[in-house]
Amino acid sequence: MLNWDEYGKEENTTPPAAPEIKTQAAETQEVAAKQSQPPQPAENAVSTESSTSNIGEGSRAEAARIAVNNLDETAGHEELDEMMANAGRVQVDQKMMINCKADLNQLVPFKYDWAWQKYLDGSANHWMPQEINMTNDIVLWKSEDGLTEDERVIVKRNLGFFSTADSLVANNLVLALYRLITNPECRQYILRQSLEEAIHTHAYQYCIESLGMDEGEIFNMYREVPCVARKASWGLKYTQEISDPDFKTGTEETDKQLLRNLIAFYCVLEGIFFYCGFTQILSMGRRNKMTGTAEQFQYILRDESMHVNFGIDVINQIKIENPHLWDEQMKSDAAQMILEGTELEIQYARDTMPRGVLGMNASMMEEYLKFIANRRLTQLGLDEEFTGVTNPFPWMSEIIDLRKEKNFFETRVTEYQVGGALNWE
Ligand SMILES: [Fe+2]
Ligand SMILES: [Fe+2]
Repeated sequence: MLNWDEYGKEENTTPPAAPEIKTQAAETQEVAAKQSQPPQPAENAVSTESSTSNIGEGSRAEAARIAVNNLDETAGHEELDEMMANAGRVQVDQKMMINCKADLNQLVPFKYDWAWQKYLDGSANHWMPQEINMTNDIVLWKSEDGLTEDERVIVKRNLGFFSTADSLVANNLVLALYRLITNPECRQYILRQSLEEAIHTHAYQYCIESLGMDEGEIFNMYREVPCVARKASWGLKYTQEISDPDFKTGTEETDKQLLRNLIAFYCVLEGIFFYCGFTQILSMGRRNKMTGTAEQFQYILRDESMHVNFGIDVINQIKIENPHLWDEQMKSDAAQMILEGTELEIQYARDTMPRGVLGMNASMMEEYLKFIANRRLTQLGLDEEFTGVTNPFPWMSEIIDLRKEKNFFETRVTEYQVGGALNWE
């Protein structure tokens, strides 16, 4: 290993540098740069002598200086000019969730304080997968009789689904949704959510790697295992429509496509498809099995419940600002999507729990998913579908309840808040 003494010694013994040999590409670039240099107006000319009197520099620095002196400061302002055509500084009432013409580079004044608050809350709950001790999980997973075969299937299926599902969500956010949501405080939360999705994918990868699983098998489940693949492909069809770089909102049809994407991802993928798996893994943790994996899932669930709440607030705000979009057809489409998602998740529950396991079974999960579906429907202002269902897993509500979780995670949250405050003294 190198230390500073050796570093100095090595440098002294280094032979003199060979003269620079220019590659053909570099030479071509240099010639092109010289040819493209516009004639210099006298007032823009820079005295090379005064600025570089003691500094040796190459032609690239010279080319950069010339380019900066000739910078066209109006380039890229056309879009801003359009945004600012009828107004000066951004006023709150100009801000809109979609199809907004106000300057998106100005975060304040806030119109949607709830979006900014969610960004602050998400940032205060920051966590990383490596902070969680996986030792007991590794011992249990590798022991012959640590887990039943049914319990092993649950761990593998859920890591298989989630390890790619969070990538689908992240891709939808970054490649499709971000540019179409025309509000800076919501975009700020979407950026925070994107980081959290990356951390979730990291957490699943960390579990898979720690447990020494077959990575090819796990990461391909979303294509190869039917009950996992059906959920992934259901979501993908709603991102294909709007991730086309030429897709634009602004017509009734395209605005409704965006609305369907928001419902698919926030209400169904994050709001229903995650719930069977979360319940199974957290139930395992409650029974003192795979406690590290369960703790990872508990942190993820806390983030996800905020993602769902944010998405529902965005959808409801779009409805308020564009009431014509929320017509009978759209209401019917939204309910249909939520119920299709519920049906797919019930199938997933049956496939992953052919028998009773961990104090639960597929029909209890079916009731729980119908309970969740009712909640998603009413959050969008739609009627409940399933009458008389109750929550068979009240402990899940306790985990999701953010106030209680805040107590549970108090120490870690405080650590991050202190660690995040830089002290320059
Ligand atoms: Fe996630
Ligand atoms: Fe999420």
